[in-house]
Amino acid sequence: MLTTLVASSKGGCGKSTLVTQLASHWAQTGQHTAIIDADRQGSSFRWAGMRPDNVPGVLGLQGSRKALQKLPPDTRQVLIDSPAGSGEKELEPYLEQADVLLVPVLPSSFDLYATLGFIEELQSINRIRRGKLPVALVANRLKPWTHASQDAVTQLAEQSPFPIVAQLRDSQAYVLLGALGKGIFDYQSEQVRNQQEDWKPLLRWIKRQH
Ligand SMILES: Nc1ncnc2c1ncn2[C@@H]1O[C@H](COP(=O)(O)OP(=O)(O)OP(=O)(O)O)[C@@H](O)[C@H]1O
Ligand SMILES: [Mg+2]
Repeated sequence: MLTTLVASSKGGCGKSTLVTQLASHWAQTGQHTAIIDADRQGSSFRWAGMRPDNVPGVLGLQGSRKALQKLPPDTRQVLIDSPAGSGEKELEPYLEQADVLLVPVLPSSFDLYATLGFIEELQSINRIRRGKLPVALVANRLKPWTHASQDAVTQLAEQSPFPIVAQLRDSQAYVLLGALGKGIFDYQSEQVRNQQEDWKPLLRWIKRQH
């Protein structure tokens, strides 16, 4: 079983999007996938409950320390969604169980600086300091044709001790499919193929850690 924790102190950076898209990917590969939603907003919990019959199901659980014990034994992939503003104290129930930690970040200076503060906090966490919990950043909602997006990624890469393992573009596909309980991996159309490509380096990185 692989447990992926998605967290950031910053709101709206794409935590639930990352969780639900990765869940759709793993479910589509035939792996039993569960989401533990530790955010009271319940975005990814609701998403799991909305999945239509013609796509593989994802088990949604509301987050608590006990949720990890409620997972069926055949669960292969667990994704933990967390609320904005989480620090070590809030993430504590999950930090010991997680195999990887992903931090989404938007390409704006406000987001960049807030995230760099969060990254600093992460570096003081024991498991991370000892190299037991690999951390990676995911640049999200990029507009690759703009200088602002590319500058933000460059700045982040220069200042973060953790690698940027994917650059996901800004796309309405995430918004539209998310509202239907689906992800881009539930589709095999030309339109979403480019977006699927964006995830490959992230999926490879996760595989290498496990
Ligand atoms: N790559 C993307 N392209 C377009 N829209 C996106 C993308 N990623 C996220 N969004 C949209 O941005 C908004 C915030 O994303 P999301 O809910 O995943 O962030 P979050 O970090 O979970 O927020 P919160 O802190 O409130 O839990 C949502 O409306 C989502 O659909
Ligand atoms: Mg969320």
